[in-house]
Amino acid sequence: MSVAIARTVSELRAVVAQWRRSGATIGIVPTMGALHDGHLSLVRKALERAERVIVTLFVNPKQFNSPADLIAYPRTESEDAAKLAPLGTHLLYVPDAEEMYPAGFATVVSVSGISECLCGAFRPGHFNGVATVVAKLFLQAGADFAFFGEKDFQQLQLVRRLVRDLDIPITIVPCPTVREADGLALSSRNVRLSPAQRAIAPKLASVLLDTAERLARGSPILPTLDEARATILAAGYRELEYLELRGETDLQSLASLDRPARLLAAAWLGDTRLIDNVAISPIGSWSGARSSLQSEAAQQLR
Ligand code: PAF
Repeated sequence: MSVAIARTVSELRAVVAQWRRSGATIGIVPTMGALHDGHLSLVRKALERAERVIVTLFVNPKQFNSPADLIAYPRTESEDAAKLAPLGTHLLYVPDAEEMYPAGFATVVSVSGISECLCGAFRPGHFNGVATVVAKLFLQAGADFAFFGEKDFQQLQLVRRLVRDLDIPITIVPCPTVREADGLALSSRNVRLSPAQRAIAPKLASVLLDTAERLARGSPILPTLDEARATILAAGYRELEYLELRGETDLQSLASLDRPARLLAAAWLGDTRLIDNVAISPIGSWSGARSSLQSEAAQQLR
């Protein structure tokens, strides 16, 4: 069993045009490869929702802050293809850097505000690289639906803003974070953790869930966040870049829990940077908040 591969925009568009003639709906799952079960859950969701599914594998040089990181990033096309074929993926789109950014390429897509906070403050230029490549992938493929994990919550909200602002006719489908049994969010970076670090890693998720529940019950925001930060460092994380309560759609700081919110964090465990986030509901809707938190916790920690 194998999956067809398109390596150029014109090959991709020829396949899509054929699908369109048969009236099929099309989903796209943008990835940088090195696929794990979190990516495969996006592909499964796409296959439920669309009649034809494209998975893109492109290690996007424009979103890396460090050249060393870009060189070290795993490129595992044949392993990725072997994982995707049994699911029924219809097409892999695997352009190279020349195809995506031909000589003279000069455009930057930048989503202001949402790109600058949280991860954007620590990874300058990263979200411009993401927005540029995602806009190109959407325009190249012309799909109806695109699937993004909530694990990269800031990226998800940036992509939603991007398609609204540029009137790109595609529906963004958010997909829940996939977690290990102990709560650790799946990430291609998890393989870099030593056994001792792997034992500490789930503390990030458990502190976020616990803090979200306490805030939703009415704990005062600033001291509760400070306590959460201290707990993560005490657990053995080397550095906490941020642990913040933010409005769900614009990711602006919140002084009170008066609208749907998200608790987001990025922290270093040794040389590995991990991110995670959980939903939190307004105080006024505590009974709803409690059940949605419980179901999120149950789903996320299942
Ligand atoms: O989430 C990722 O893997 C990347 O940021 C994406 C969306 C594929 C763009 O390169």
